Amino acid sequence: MLALAVSGKLRASGSQYKRLDVGRDSVTIMPIMNICVIGTGYVGLVGGACLADRGHKVTCVDIDTDKIARLLKGELPIFEPGLDEIVARNMKEGRLICTTSYKEGAKDAEIFFITVGTPPKENGEADLQYVYKVAEQIGQHMNGYAVVVGKSTVPVGTNRRVKEIIAEQYSGEFDIASNPEFLREGSAVDDFMNPDRIVVGVEADRAKKEMEKVYESFECPKLFLDIESAEMVKYASNAFLATKISFINEIANVCEQVGASVDNVAKGMGLDARIGPHFLQAGIGYGGSCFPKDVRALAQTAGTNGYDFKLLRSVIDVNQHQQLHFLERMRKQLGGFASKTIGVWGLAFKPNTDDIRESVALEMIEQIIKEGGLVQAYDPRAIENVKKEAPQVTCVDSAQCAAHGADALLIATQWDEFNIVDLSQVKANMRGDIIFDGRNMLDPDFVRKQGFIYFSIGR
Ligand SMILES: NC(=O)c1ccc[n+]([C@@H]2O[C@H](COP(=O)([O-])OP(=O)(O)OC[C@H]3O[C@@H](n4cnc5c(N)ncnc54)[C@H](O)[C@@H]3O)[C@@H](O)[C@H]2O)c1
Repeated sequence: MLALAVSGKLRASGSQYKRLDVGRDSVTIMPIMNICVIGTGYVGLVGGACLADRGHKVTCVDIDTDKIARLLKGELPIFEPGLDEIVARNMKEGRLICTTSYKEGAKDAEIFFITVGTPPKENGEADLQYVYKVAEQIGQHMNGYAVVVGKSTVPVGTNRRVKEIIAEQYSGEFDIASNPEFLREGSAVDDFMNPDRIVVGVEADRAKKEMEKVYESFECPKLFLDIESAEMVKYASNAFLATKISFINEIANVCEQVGASVDNVAKGMGLDARIGPHFLQAGIGYGGSCFPKDVRALAQTAGTNGYDFKLLRSVIDVNQHQQLHFLERMRKQLGGFASKTIGVWGLAFKPNTDDIRESVALEMIEQIIKEGGLVQAYDPRAIENVKKEAPQVTCVDSAQCAAHGADALLIATQWDEFNIVDLSQVKANMRGDIIFDGRNMLDPDFVRKQGFIYFSIGR
């Protein structure tokens, strides 16, 4: 059945779905695909909603019944700027369906996106059990030709294994593809809608054509590669960005020794077009659900294939050292953490998200509590998750409340709202007068003028 959508309305006419976008001077024909997205988390929900917004018919499947129930009630299970509006609009207009039923998701699906988690195992390797479980389910429910697309971050070889698992269950024709995702939490909708590039690994021409249809409305370079290279692009990109962070953190540590300012050094470096200004912000290190696990997974993959990736091992060491070094500075300044009250600003692993996976803030808090310190923490979005995942952390309702009666303040996540907190009020609220700025977000001269003892990194 071919459906033509004119000004958003569908009508039947053949063997596939098309949409007509009628602009002022031109008429564009866009394919509409039936897409099943499996795993409705940060990547799956954002990707599914954005693809629906581009006109595709998307069914998001998740085994988390609570998550799907909340979505069906019109609530978002995660915080991501702009996502609520896009999910609501596309659900209302019938292009986005959320369900726990694989059967419903697989019905008429031309594309399956696998977007489940690939968390780290104890030894750093990516845990692929969720991806392989989904492959089994797809094999059981597939009912016609489709392309199964791996979007989860997975080591080389995983998508070929997915193909084998599906083929054990399903004897019809299908293809696989690897389509790593580069969105960043905090700006995920904009990143998905306006990507720098789309990378797709394919082995069959038919799969390439299907993927071209999925992304036809996206204006950016589209790179079609072999499957193994596509899988590797994601790990190499994240490992490179993590290397840039660890590099600037090392430079910051040298700056401290020689009396230079890492802010000025980063500015001078970033103006070089070969280097660029991004990921040159010194701080207490990277965290989150991607960099730590992906860097470790790549180092591990290299190792199991007989290659010692020395640079990556150093990147990991430097990252770990950054927070330990800062904790040591705090410990020294405070004469130990025992019975000291530390106000903490920021719990999410970065600003504009509620995600606390591998958050440096939480790792530091854990250590402070272990050494007898008392913590009162505030985050604009992550408190609900902290209450569930780290109930030992006392959370308060505002940045001022976190400062109240504190001996020292630790800034652990660079939320914009911390820039506009009234520091004279903070000073009046605190028992002590020390600010440890782990994200170099405040102006040292200004903070010192307010009467604080101020520590940051590399300046
Ligand atoms: N979060 C990011 O910023 C980001 C960016 C790029 C790539 N990635 C990669 O994308 C993948 C997903 O990451 P995420 O952050 O969206 O994870 P997430 O934990 O937010 O979401 C995963 C979802 O999959 C669901 N799930 C697990 N098993 C399932 C199954 N058998 N069937 C259906 N649903 C199932 C879970 O309930 C969960 O809702 C990971 O490989 C990650 O590395 C993440």
